[in-house]
Amino acid sequence: MSERVFSGVQPTGNLHLGNYLGAIRNWVTLQNTYECLFCVVDLHAVTVWQDPAKLRSSTREVAAAMLAAGIDSEKHIIFNQSQVSGHAELAWLLNCVARMGWLGRMTQFKEKAGKDREAASVGLFAYPNLMAADILLYKGTHVPVGEDQKQHLELARDIAAKFNNDFGTETFPLPEPLILGTATRVMSLKDGTRKMSKSEPSDLSRINMTDDADTIARKIKKAKTDPDFLPDSIKGLESRPEARNLLGIYAALADVSMEAAVATFAGQQFSVLKDQLSDVAVAHLAPMQDEYRRLLADKGHVDSVLSKGVERARTLAAPVLREVQDVMGFLHAKPSR
Ligand code: TYM
Repeated sequence: MSERVFSGVQPTGNLHLGNYLGAIRNWVTLQNTYECLFCVVDLHAVTVWQDPAKLRSSTREVAAAMLAAGIDSEKHIIFNQSQVSGHAELAWLLNCVARMGWLGRMTQFKEKAGKDREAASVGLFAYPNLMAADILLYKGTHVPVGEDQKQHLELARDIAAKFNNDFGTETFPLPEPLILGTATRVMSLKDGTRKMSKSEPSDLSRINMTDDADTIARKIKKAKTDPDFLPDSIKGLESRPEARNLLGIYAALADVSMEAAVATFAGQQFSVLKDQLSDVAVAHLAPMQDEYRRLLADKGHVDSVLSKGVERARTLAAPVLREVQDVMGFLHAKPSR
């Protein structure tokens, strides 16, 4: 069976360093080994209300960020989810395979819905089924994501296995998560126990992919620390979430192991780490940001990448959807002559 990578990012505002280090940067590496589809998941975004004009611009921005990060849109497919109707169709079929109890255990739903679950959209609850559909529509085998998506991927595997079992087929491969690198869970700069996230109200909590050098340096300077010197071993990072986070980000951006990062700053004050982290972050992000700005000024190019991607994705999706329909017993009646 051929191996295929599928992954996605929601077009809900600024991409941040977590999206980059947890996901997009790994995609750039994986494209040398696998056939890949990278999706701007606009259908996922609308599980909470989105301003239509902003959704359109964010969709272009996320596609531009993928290109600026180095995804090759000639070799691989960059597209937006809503334009390949198979995602929504397969999601419905998988709604009928997945169990309420499975979805009820999803921690991301619990976090996003908050206390008032009755007021959450049905889409927010069913969201992991759509995510499973995204991957399975292309028989995706490998899914590079940050750690926060691990539970959703386990569910996707359960759904694929139940489908195969219910119909006695091997229609779907069980997709494997690829959680790679030293920054699989980048934490907030303001609180090392919380995930860096687009929805966090304080912009100081994250480094956005669009932040300029001064902003990056200012945010890192203001990042939360603790009163001790930096430790000389990874064990010394236990119960020191801020130190672990800043060292993890440094290691990822400087492309060194966590052990090497710890050794570099052993016994030093946070300010030394922060200065070097700012330098390495700016050096790493600046070329990408220049390219990103150039691409955003060329809407026509980004749109043509997306529309070509949509065509190619539709072509791959159609036979899989047809196969699923046949397996489930949907009649394709032919007109009689
Ligand atoms: P989204 O848009 O929240 O995030 C996109 C990618 O960034 C990763 N990520 C992080 N990694 C490390 N540290 C962080 N603080 C951090 N925050 C986000 C996410 O793990 C993700 O890889 N449901 C998905 C999108 C999706 C998808 C899919 C992914 C839809 N269908 C199919 C893979 C396959 C999401 O909301 O990601």
